[in-house]
Amino acid sequence: MQKDPIHAVWRSHSTKWSRVGSPLRPTKEDQRIMMMLSTPALSHSKENSVVVVLGVTPELVQLSWPKNTRLLAFDHSADMIASVWSPHSRNPSSVQQVSWQKMPLSDQSADLVIGDGCFTVLPCADDYRNVLAESARVLKRTGLLVLRCFIRPERSESLEEVLAEVLAGQIGSFHALKWRVAMAIIPDEELSVAVTDIHATFERLFPDRDQLAKNTGWPRTAIDTIDAYHEMDTRYTFPTMSAFRKLALPFVNVVDIRQGHYELAERCPIFCFKPIYSPR
Ligand SMILES: C[S@@+](CC[C@H](N)C(=O)[O-])C[C@H]1O[C@@H](n2cnc3c(N)ncnc32)[C@H](O)[C@@H]1O
Repeated sequence: MQKDPIHAVWRSHSTKWSRVGSPLRPTKEDQRIMMMLSTPALSHSKENSVVVVLGVTPELVQLSWPKNTRLLAFDHSADMIASVWSPHSRNPSSVQQVSWQKMPLSDQSADLVIGDGCFTVLPCADDYRNVLAESARVLKRTGLLVLRCFIRPERSESLEEVLAEVLAGQIGSFHALKWRVAMAIIPDEELSVAVTDIHATFERLFPDRDQLAKNTGWPRTAIDTIDAYHEMDTRYTFPTMSAFRKLALPFVNVVDIRQGHYELAERCPIFCFKPIYSPR
């Protein structure tokens, strides 16, 4: 297993990030929906609106933000910042290497907190609570939290079902398969999966990658992104919709939930939340 497990998986991803695709990265349709849900939060500030981006996701940083928007990106991985971060082409923007659990912002100072797939990379329910509480703390009363999340079905599919769909040519992309395998191996009452188990299950189901590439038409370079999980001592979380809403409820209220139309979009809803204020 790797030392420094939290950062190791991102060090490995950072070298191959351009090979990762939807649904792990947001589509143009996701971008449009996220901007539409964010817009009401950006009309209140007399001066600059402050947008916090959780991570360095280029598809969020590079959105066409209104002119008076200042972007603050927070990511704890120096490797992801070095290889994926790029400042906005027009708006003032900066990145800091910090954890979302402790953002360097005062209370009620941000208009919007936005993130893509951020909660899946948090390893346990306590991290969910801490990041939700921290997001609610930094948001103004008129602020919004907009998140695309990876949500597993209330009834898990079996690996046999997933395998049968691959053999029938019914899974369109390797990244969709990766998420379906990950979600299928989480026991019913649990939230998380060890990423090394996603890798091991994939290896067991598909020992011949060249054959898989030939049968499906998926590029080997996309299939090989699974190796970022090999022997990584970190966990990913995929809550069901009911589990996620229960975790979120003490900190934020749901304003809206939308989804796109791409493969697996039903498991990638975009939430718009408003913060619930707790007296301090
Ligand atoms: C935004 S998430 C998910 C990837 C996303 N779907 C995308 O397209 O960019 C990935 C990023 O989160 C960062 N990260 C994970 N947990 C974090 C935490 N607790 N605090 C700050 N950054 C974190 C990782 O370093 C990585 O750069």
